[in-house]
Amino acid sequence: MAGSDQLVAAARAAREHAVADFSGFKVGAAVETANGTIISGCNIENASYGLTLCAERVAIFKAVSEGHRAFTRIVVVADTESPTPPCGACRQIIWEFCGDVEVIIADLKSVAASLRMTDLLPLPFDKRLL
Ligand code: THU
Repeated sequence: MAGSDQLVAAARAAREHAVADFSGFKVGAAVETANGTIISGCNIENASYGLTLCAERVAIFKAVSEGHRAFTRIVVVADTESPTPPCGACRQIIWEFCGDVEVIIADLKSVAASLRMTDLLPLPFDKRLL
């Protein structure tokens, strides 16, 4: 398992690549796989607005596309006074692809909170119900 400092640093570095021309709200994320690999992502906006991808989903989909299917932690980084938790759509994707992982919320200087997915998404909809 990588140190959480390394995971937070990866999310901060990815945030630098955010394409947030419309909101100005840059977000970075990093997921840790079960074998300790760190894969990062940033939010990517475009002129349609609605096709925007959040940093968390970019990181997870990058990881899945590279063959990773087991995850231990995810970090979300934004430059805000109050911690920025994953949006509702990302909570669904984190739950379905990562399960009850630790979700670390940080800003540019410090780590604000550490939660579990079951706290962020109680009573989830997933494949068990299909
Ligand atoms: N955003 C994320 O990347 N992750 C979140 O969990 C919250 C929102 C992005 C989407 C959009 O580009 C910008 O932040 C403002 O909503």
